Amino acid sequence: MLLIKGSNEVKKAISFLKNSRKTIGFVPTMGALHNGHISLIKQSKAETDITLCSIFINPLQFNNEIDLNTYPIKIENDIEMLINEGVDLLFLPDKSEIYPENYKPIDFSFDGLDLIYEGKLRPGHFMGVANVLKIFFEIIEPNYAYFGQKDYQQTLIVRKLIELLKIPIDIKVCEIVREETGLAMSSRNVRLNETNRSNSGFLFKILNELKEDLNNISVEEAIELAKSKVALNAEASCEYLDVLNRDNLEKWEEGYIKNQSIILSAVKYGNVRLLDNILI
Ligand code: PAJ
Repeated sequence: MLLIKGSNEVKKAISFLKNSRKTIGFVPTMGALHNGHISLIKQSKAETDITLCSIFINPLQFNNEIDLNTYPIKIENDIEMLINEGVDLLFLPDKSEIYPENYKPIDFSFDGLDLIYEGKLRPGHFMGVANVLKIFFEIIEPNYAYFGQKDYQQTLIVRKLIELLKIPIDIKVCEIVREETGLAMSSRNVRLNETNRSNSGFLFKILNELKEDLNNISVEEAIELAKSKVALNAEASCEYLDVLNRDNLEKWEEGYIKNQSIILSAVKYGNVRLLDNILI
């Protein structure tokens, strides 16, 4: 695996590979890798000639300084995992490589999609994600870029970004990888204490029950029931839990076709925010 820290070096390597007609798959991450990230890498390996992974903790997308300062860093372990997976290139830039001192973030227009759900709870988060991805996409010019369904709203923002930038990148969304308990894997799960970790499958279970309930009771009743089940878990509080149109995250209304919906949720559990969703 080639480890590159400079964007010019990445550009050179990519232009050489593109001249030899190789397809490039890009897997952007913030490190502290787990099997969720690895599933994206495996899919890229299966579908493209060259897989490039980036590790960059993007300060622009953190709205909370404590979260940024305590974000888990496991770079040596990450490198070992990437080598084991046969990743071809690791782009590991410093902050100054991505954001020059005079960098002015671009204020993209996402038609309000960046201001609801995750965007509402984390002001500026999706602008930060979009800015860093624009920079990465311009350096790497991948044919494919891989994202997890786990961060579902992020995948919609990325699709909008691609449209706005008019760049020909094929976005691939990979299924959520879960712990045995059902908990969606996340780098921040290391912050769960032991008791909460062993109980953390409750959210996925509740989302599945909600999906079943939609066949029998109204959407509003099913959502309320699910929220009340979340509240039965000590230290758990629901930030949002909704049944939405999966294309634009608009509210479910009578008449929507149920198989175009998504159950989207965020639950604060102890000091960790659990994000999860299931498609209907
Ligand atoms: P990060 O949280 O490191 O996640 C990198 C990618 O892994 C994202 O596309 C995320 O959705 C995916 N992922 C995380 N957990 C997953 C799981 N359990 N199953 C499947 N995929 C999972 O998301 C980011 O970083 C950043 O916002 C980034 C896109 C790198 C921009 O800075």
